[in-house]
Amino acid sequence: MPNTGRRYHDISLVLVDDEAAFRDTLAKRLEKREIKVHPVACAKQALEILAREPVDVVISDVRMPEMSGHELLARILENHPDKEVILLTGHGDLRDGVEGIRAGAFDYITKPVEIDHIESKVRQAAAAVRRRKERQVEGELRKQLEERALQAEKLATVGTLATGVAHEINNPLAIINEAAGWIGQVMARPSMRDLPENASLTRASEIIQTAVDRARRITHQLLGMVRKESEAPTICDMPGYLMELASLCRSIHPENEVAIHVEEDTPFTLITDPHKLRQILVNLVENAIQATPKGGCVTLSSQLTDTGKVTIQVQDTGPGIPESVKKRIFDPFFTTKPQGKGTGLGLYLCRDLSHHLGGELEVSSRPGEGACFTLTLPRALPNGTPP
Ligand SMILES: Nc1ncnc2c1ncn2[C@@H]1O[C@H](COP(=O)(O)OP(=O)(O)OP(=O)(O)O)[C@@H](O)[C@H]1O
Ligand SMILES: [Mg+2]
Repeated sequence: MPNTGRRYHDISLVLVDDEAAFRDTLAKRLEKREIKVHPVACAKQALEILAREPVDVVISDVRMPEMSGHELLARILENHPDKEVILLTGHGDLRDGVEGIRAGAFDYITKPVEIDHIESKVRQAAAAVRRRKERQVEGELRKQLEERALQAEKLATVGTLATGVAHEINNPLAIINEAAGWIGQVMARPSMRDLPENASLTRASEIIQTAVDRARRITHQLLGMVRKESEAPTICDMPGYLMELASLCRSIHPENEVAIHVEEDTPFTLITDPHKLRQILVNLVENAIQATPKGGCVTLSSQLTDTGKVTIQVQDTGPGIPESVKKRIFDPFFTTKPQGKGTGLGLYLCRDLSHHLGGELEVSSRPGEGACFTLTLPRALPNGTPP
């Protein structure tokens, strides 16, 4: 076979033969054909090289003192199944070669060897190794994609189920709230003041109302995901829109000693559903405020990208999100907040809404460096006129 140069320069092989003159000559001739050769005198040295070097093919003499080529083949098949082995047999030792192939060798070559023949066998063996690697990578990729699709399907099912339940629960919740309120009102009547259980019944009605409020928060979050009514796409001026949003968030959380800044980025207009966008950003800012210790800061910024999209970022100076938590924050009901404090639906809702807006929501964070949520949106919704 002609020497085609660079095409095969990535083949690396171990040549095992106890005959030094034969080994060195063959190694030099193969090297000239751009094949990287590790020449060694015994099977033990070959195994040492295989343990530390990226080798594709092993050429091994069959008859060697200590460990034979057949034993070496067995070890390689067991510990390095991704390599191929070519055996070198003595003239007239056909049986050695056939036995080797039966045991799992790629092929055998009879001595004295012919350089073109051996080069061609090496290239065939290396191609087999490469094909196997490619199939393995393909298989892993397919498995990953299948797992991701399954996960997405599971999340969608959970979402549909949860929103259905939320809808059904809203009515009984309203009735419970009404009834508890009525008990409270009755207990407040002058005629009931002297009732011995008055204080505990009043307290019970308050507890019921607080619990109903919490349950309502959950159903509202869930229903936010399927809310059909969307506002007509509207022009939102950046960063003005973010400034208004920041003052809204400040009024919701006046007690927090966390500053909310808006960066004075280059102004531009965005056409989107302002209600959904507000829902996403309020949730993100709320999370950021809750994660940031006193004296910290939450920064909102907006930018036009080179590809004509819009990014809005919510960055905080909190503790950041550890890798193990980061993988799950967009899952429904995942929360690290104490029981009764968080629903774990905020970010699930945000991601769902950002998809509704034709966008994507991503997070980047390293522990100790705060968290940064990036919302990427098209500059105009399909039913909105581009600015
Ligand atoms: N800015 C942030 N910094 C650190 N961790 C965050 C941040 N934002 C979200 N997280 C983590 O992601 C989890 C999920 O957030 P998500 O908004 O979905 O639910 P929640 O905030 O726990 O509950 P709720 O939104 O009902 O208050 C949080 O519990 C928290 O662990
Ligand atoms: Mg939240």
